[in-house]
Amino acid sequence: MRTKPNRNDPCWCGSGQKYKKCHEPIDEKISYFESQGHVVPTQNLLKTPQQLEGIRQSSRINIAVLDYVAEQIRPGISTEEINTWVDQKTREMGGIPAPLNYEGFPKSVCISINDQVCHGIPSPDVILQEGDIVNVDVSTIYNGYFSDSSRMFCLGEVDPEWKKLVDVAKESLQVGLKEVKPWGFLGDMGEAIHTFVKSHGYSVVEEIGGHGVGLEFHEEPFVSYVSKKGTEMLLVPGMVFTIEPMINMGGHEVYVDAENEWTIYTDDGSPSAQWEITVAVTEDGYEVLTW
Ligand code: MF3
Ligand code: CO
Repeated sequence: MRTKPNRNDPCWCGSGQKYKKCHEPIDEKISYFESQGHVVPTQNLLKTPQQLEGIRQSSRINIAVLDYVAEQIRPGISTEEINTWVDQKTREMGGIPAPLNYEGFPKSVCISINDQVCHGIPSPDVILQEGDIVNVDVSTIYNGYFSDSSRMFCLGEVDPEWKKLVDVAKESLQVGLKEVKPWGFLGDMGEAIHTFVKSHGYSVVEEIGGHGVGLEFHEEPFVSYVSKKGTEMLLVPGMVFTIEPMINMGGHEVYVDAENEWTIYTDDGSPSAQWEITVAVTEDGYEVLTW
């Protein structure tokens, strides 16, 4: 439901300005795009300045935790150890690891190695090896606000082809970011990333994507990286979502681990890489919250 205040009343976003000077023109523009048949964000997806500040603070912890992992990750340790680092560091900074018990997820972080695409479950039995490419995906709750980001780590000597995959996955975020601006569409970003990744001969996972984030772990919209320009949700200042394409060296097909029902693998056993950032749409472009 969209609340429409009186024009001279304070804006719904809490800025303290009159509605007519603040969100009225934005709301009117949204209604116009909606009348043209576009998918538009509901009001709860447009974060108020105060909510944005909360998500920023959560993001700061999220980044600090990843920095902490970066300092210590190495071959020979178990993924359970990384889980302990993430859990302890997050709590030490006043946060809560969002993955723990999320829809039954048993650990505080997702760690996905080589042909694991995402949602790898930390375990004392999984020991990192020289040559592994490892995604560590950290999601943080602070003061009720959610942030989400992940990085790849190349352990020791990594096959140059695999390193290239990791680099292209990282670069794809920059390619996507160029398309993040108000009154564009999520599909502009999806198509730009897909085209870029394909130009390197890689594929993009289709079934799993990014998501709105901030007041909850996973909010609308679903963020696809195989979508088309001019389609998907209209981008409006205040929206916060993740960019996190999963890039496979081989085919895009994936399957879910039958035993743990979480971990996603590439069908063909080829390696997969993913970097993730939390991004806000601003009045003139974007703000990356998790860098
Ligand atoms: N960070 C993952 C994401 O981007 C979280 C998956 S849910 C979990 O959506 F329970 F596995 F953490
Ligand atoms: Co995410």
